[in-house]
Amino acid sequence: MAEAFVAVAKISEIPVGQLKPVEVAGKRLLVCHTAEGFYAVDDTCTHDDGPLAEGWLEGNAIECPRHGARFDVTTGKVLCLPAAAPIKTYPTHVNGDEVQVNVG
Ligand code: FES
Repeated sequence: MAEAFVAVAKISEIPVGQLKPVEVAGKRLLVCHTAEGFYAVDDTCTHDDGPLAEGWLEGNAIECPRHGARFDVTTGKVLCLPAAAPIKTYPTHVNGDEVQVNVG
């Protein structure tokens, strides 16, 4: 089956260091633009469902606004407690001036 990449934003909408919440196939995701490129992750913190879209992106790390857990948006791994479980990541690519995400 062909992989289903869906356009979620224009490149110009998300400068480096910024993030954008999007909804794809009923899932709330965040598209994050780090110095290394675009990454898509779940918008929901695994600690207590905090809204990561209201958090801060610093380098490759996103910090939850609720209790300060941090995750690496390139891998989903936990960088800082109190979260223990990683967040899910999704493949992204750039096609022309669009950022596309595959939620599988
Ligand atoms: S809900 Fe994110 S750190 Fe608690």
